[in-house]
Amino acid sequence: MGHHIVFLGPPGAGKGTHARRLGERFRLPHIATGDLLRSSIRNGTTAGKQARTFVESGKLVPDRLIVQMIKERFEHPDVASGFILDGFPRTVEQAEALDEILARDKKQIDLVIDFRASEETLIERLSGRRTCPRCDANYHVRNIPTRREGICDGCGSDLVERQDDRLETVRARLKVYGVETKPLSEYYERRKLLRTVDGNLGIEELQEKLVEYLERNDLA
Ligand code: AP5
Repeated sequence: MGHHIVFLGPPGAGKGTHARRLGERFRLPHIATGDLLRSSIRNGTTAGKQARTFVESGKLVPDRLIVQMIKERFEHPDVASGFILDGFPRTVEQAEALDEILARDKKQIDLVIDFRASEETLIERLSGRRTCPRCDANYHVRNIPTRREGICDGCGSDLVERQDDRLETVRARLKVYGVETKPLSEYYERRKLLRTVDGNLGIEELQEKLVEYLERNDLA
């Protein structure tokens, strides 16, 4: 088995939190299209300017722009031994484009983890999330507090609330997820790549299960 892993799931299910930890543990790059987009927006790149209104309103950025971003990211040598994709693919078109890109290098997706969580959990998580605009570290006011309130443990920057974590935008993102991204579970289920996990679980408990899945996938 290879190490080409996709994390699927609604906003707030814990994809980023767990992908970051597992990436460190198994020495796999954690590639989050949301982080790539936010960094492009901060840096005012052409792609960032094109993506800004979509991201801030909770809509999906056009497939063409995202696929181009992934192609560029895949040119980095760190993806040679695999990756954890977080937030990509998000539409069937993106999943097909990903298959094509990997097939050119005789690679394929090996495992898809589908995070499921109740709407109540998702809203509670997103309303308490705080992120670091400098190093993208992720906290939660109650579940993962920082040592000093409002200050990143890693780099000491002031934490911010993501603009798209406002309640009305969260609701829009959940709706988009249901229409555009949920069909991907079936796409990967048909290919027998899908493992579903309970995203409502506590971080440590879920992390243990994920480690087990990845070890079973021959990553140890
Ligand atoms: P993106 O950044 O990908 O956001 P998302 O998918 O909506 O996911 P989140 O980051 O909100 O949630 P997560 O599952 O990673 O949860 P997290 O671990 O942070 O995308 C943002 C936007 O970019 C999109 O709306 C779209 O516009 C655009 N975009 C991105 N990719 C795109 C694509 N492929 N195509 C088109 N457009 C794209 O956890 C949430 C909080 O809960 C944190 O505070 C965390 O500390 C806490 N927490 C996590 N797990 C637990 C737990 N088990 N117990 C308690 N607390 C927990």
